[in-house]
Amino acid sequence: MDAREMKVEAAKAALAYVEDGMRLGIGTGSTAEEFVRLLAEKVHGGLKVEGVPTSERTARLCLELGVPLKSLDELPELDLTVDGADEVDADLTLIKGGGGALLREKIVAAASSRMIVIADESKLVGVLGAFPLPIEVNPFGEAATRIAIERAAAKLGLSGELKLRKSGGDIFMTDGGHHIFDASFGRIPDAEALSAELNSIPGVVEHGLFIHMASLAIIAGKAGARTLQA
Ligand code: 5RP
Repeated sequence: MDAREMKVEAAKAALAYVEDGMRLGIGTGSTAEEFVRLLAEKVHGGLKVEGVPTSERTARLCLELGVPLKSLDELPELDLTVDGADEVDADLTLIKGGGGALLREKIVAAASSRMIVIADESKLVGVLGAFPLPIEVNPFGEAATRIAIERAAAKLGLSGELKLRKSGGDIFMTDGGHHIFDASFGRIPDAEALSAELNSIPGVVEHGLFIHMASLAIIAGKAGARTLQA
């Protein structure tokens, strides 16, 4: 099984948790897109669901494939969100935001009764942090916010490069009009402490640590998909 097939396998397993009439949060990224494709097939087969997309990219794919969409304002309480992740640890703490959608992903997951993470086994880690942590910041005062993040991380003994994300030579803009620093802190032994520090910085809009949000992870490996409970 190659990486794409593993993503499809995880997405397929997540579909088993989708019931008729559900209000769904729909994640962003290549794994979430496999879920959208399978969901669209079910919708064409008669499954009735309404989805809230976590990005413009996901919204475009859903519209193209005929998955019915609503805004989060129209459906402020969701039954289930299915989304990918950049890293998943054994407690189901996640690093997300590799696709730049972390703010909407976190808002949608927080509005959901349940979040299921789907990933291939390369995303499962012992300690978070090999994947640079995406930190979404307001462009105003970005240099000051960078210094504040570096100081906050240093309090926890963390250091590393904060790289302003670029896309095709331009500064990457999130759907919300913000920028992203990808922070190479290395190992993050205390995600809750780092989250609290980052949340206390005014210029930080949101960060990619998802703590106590996912209740189930479906991890696909060469031998098939297995589940991890929080
Ligand atoms: C987007 C995300 C994605 O879920 C994460 O980057 C995983 O993407 P992929 O499934 O393509 O590896 O957080 O902001």
